[in-house]
Amino acid sequence: MRKILVAGNWKMNGSKAMVNSLLDGLLEGSRDERNVDMAVFPPFPYLAEVQKKLEGSEIAWGGQTVNPQEKGAHTGEVAASMLLDFACRYVLVGHSERRSIYGESDEDVAKRFAAALEAGLEPVLCVGETLEEREGGITESVVGRQLDAVLERSGVKSFENAIVAYEPVWAIGTGKTASPEQAQAVHAFIRDKFAALDAIIAGQLRILYGGSVNGSNAADLFAREDIDGGLVGGASLKAEDFLAIRNAVD
Ligand code: 13P
Repeated sequence: MRKILVAGNWKMNGSKAMVNSLLDGLLEGSRDERNVDMAVFPPFPYLAEVQKKLEGSEIAWGGQTVNPQEKGAHTGEVAASMLLDFACRYVLVGHSERRSIYGESDEDVAKRFAAALEAGLEPVLCVGETLEEREGGITESVVGRQLDAVLERSGVKSFENAIVAYEPVWAIGTGKTASPEQAQAVHAFIRDKFAALDAIIAGQLRILYGGSVNGSNAADLFAREDIDGGLVGGASLKAEDFLAIRNAVD
């Protein structure tokens, strides 16, 4: 059985004091054994703090994005080697906010994914449709296109060391979670797409759901066959709320 991953994307939130109390709370509340891995994605300036607190614990961490270049004149960007300097295991790639606010195209996302993997990070590739796309009945073609850009560049084998997160844009930060049925349908579409290329990789691939996950809806989502965890935004900023999601895993 695939182990559930509960991942907390803090986005551009937090302070040094908040990071410390949040991590203390998570460490304290996650001592019991469960079929679950945990990870947090802090803003870059807090990576050192996070590493100091979490090193040696069961909780992993990662960056929220990565630049495809190794170094150079890219003001404001961060290279994969820098994330590795702070012992990041994961990196988010193609989060919908990066795509919509900072203009990352499918092609950019594919380059970031390739650079992350090449450096030894595990990319968490985020895909998902807008409300307009869902209402237009093109969810699968949008998600398929976003996956194809990465599959064409890096190949299906690259997903031995990568994760997919399905995050419908209309469910992010809106309190409107996709129903377990809606999410499961897209997750099954994603897994079938991989299965057509490589059945073993498809069977092992972790596909997370993201979009208004909380302690009350997590158990129903995680119970679905193809939902292997959650990429959590707002509810990952309070230890109690994030732990409620973790504890929803049987
Ligand atoms: P919310 O859980 O706040 O909807 O955010 C989801 C998300 O974008 C996680 O990456």
